[in-house]
Amino acid sequence: MTAEESYWWQTAVVYQVYIRSFADGDGDGVGDIQGLRARLPYLAQLGVDAIWINPWYPSPMADAGYDVADYRDIDPAYGTLEDAQTLIAEAHALGIRVILDIVPNHTSDRHEWFRAALADEPGARQRYHFRPGAGADGSSPPNNWQSVFGGPAWTRVDSGPLKGQWYLHLFAPGQPDLNWDHPEVRAEFEDILAFWFDRGVDGFRIDVAHGLVKAAGLPDGADADAEPQVMLHTEGRHPAWDQDGVHEVYRGWRSVAERYTPERIFIAEAWVPSNERLARYLRPDELHTAFQFDFLRAPWRAEWLRKVVDDAISSAASVGAPPTWVLSNHDVTRTVTRFSRSQPAHLVDTAWERGRWGEEVPDHPLGRRRARAAALVQLALPGTAYVYQGEELGLEEIEDLPAEARQDPTWVQSGFTDVGRDGCRIPLPWNGTEPPYGFSPDPGAGLWLPQPWHWAQRSAEAQDHDPESTLNLYRAALRLRPELWSGAGPVEWIEVAPDVAAFGRGDAQCWVNTGDSEVSLPAGATVALASEPGVDRVLPPDTAVWLR
Ligand code: NOJ
Repeated sequence: MTAEESYWWQTAVVYQVYIRSFADGDGDGVGDIQGLRARLPYLAQLGVDAIWINPWYPSPMADAGYDVADYRDIDPAYGTLEDAQTLIAEAHALGIRVILDIVPNHTSDRHEWFRAALADEPGARQRYHFRPGAGADGSSPPNNWQSVFGGPAWTRVDSGPLKGQWYLHLFAPGQPDLNWDHPEVRAEFEDILAFWFDRGVDGFRIDVAHGLVKAAGLPDGADADAEPQVMLHTEGRHPAWDQDGVHEVYRGWRSVAERYTPERIFIAEAWVPSNERLARYLRPDELHTAFQFDFLRAPWRAEWLRKVVDDAISSAASVGAPPTWVLSNHDVTRTVTRFSRSQPAHLVDTAWERGRWGEEVPDHPLGRRRARAAALVQLALPGTAYVYQGEELGLEEIEDLPAEARQDPTWVQSGFTDVGRDGCRIPLPWNGTEPPYGFSPDPGAGLWLPQPWHWAQRSAEAQDHDPESTLNLYRAALRLRPELWSGAGPVEWIEVAPDVAAFGRGDAQCWVNTGDSEVSLPAGATVALASEPGVDRVLPPDTAVWLR
């Protein structure tokens, strides 16, 4: 491996595999490792450098696998440890690296540690946060923290030796928070990392990396009203999040990663108040990269694109880390839909905000056009780009799922006011004209989330031979990206018009028009790739081009 190859993560295109919804190999209506293995050639043809697989560990699925019961095994619905190893080897043979998802803030309530805690085995409850309740009879939660999914962040134990005690869960009740002041918790996770690194895994995405360590004494937060969404807020600090003590944990993790050749890498999911706070996670002895989410919160406006790009690059550069670009993921509204309504003049308030942009009917063709243009911007920028499965097919959010089909705990915990994240997690359409669109080998399989009846045109097969399809746009962009942009140097903005964000990097330029009227392209430039067919001398609205 050359030195350059060991820095693959600084420029990679990483494809996010939401395994439940990627491809079903065994016909039970749930995606699995067998299905993913069968589609690796599709990913190789797409041209991605790595895949990040959402949690695949044994789990009661209180939060789609982010409630882990055993960190060293595979959920039977997804396959076996042997399948996982085969997948890792096959991906590597195709030149695709494998990144897993580690969930250190909380376990499942079925994890053996939590069961031992509930049984009051000696020393077991200290690994979590158990407290007596407040009030004369202890019937109120110990503090005012709210769950990110809605409701109090505390649940009272209703039977057994700990009856009457409360335990902390910043997410669902089935996700008790670990006590990261406990040395056994720290040692256990370093061991879990090594378990997977020894099996050839190239890195980890760290779930709620800004969680884990809480302020001593678990004091009340300042503003009780704002708390359900506090993880996502851009203002203010809260005793549950982004505590300085968490950095010591990552210094330990970095030393585990450095024991391997090539070095294994980390990417933090950390929703912190500012890029400056985020940069603290990326200091040289901590994590390698972190998602920078302002890109997926930016409205479709050139001025915002310029601003979030500049902010992301300069804050990452302040600690010598590469920037990262995310247009969507399994927690947020799909890009097509986000761009299919009127655009606000500010960053979208919360990344998990969905269905709250009023009753405006989405214009999906418009949203898709903008999403295609945004992809070209994303893939022209320096650093790492993340592609969430289905973005390459131009899928939109499914906003009209029937209530009884919804799986996201947010729906119940919010008292049925927040529809949650199921609409961006619908099983992928691979081929055919009706559900399950080749997702499952059994046409009669009941899928874990239903697909819409209008996705025939969006399947991978339907797009495969259409030169104008979104799939072929992504393929072309990923093919051209190394040639045009890798090692191309810093972003240099070109003044064109308020509604145009245009930048050069080396000999290539990327232009995007977010306005209503067309603009002239520079004389003498050649269009290497355009997000819409037929772009030549002028750049139409909601279109991007790569020029050379
Ligand atoms: C962030 C994950 O992306 C999300 O899906 C999950 O619900 C929470 N962390 C809790 O683990």
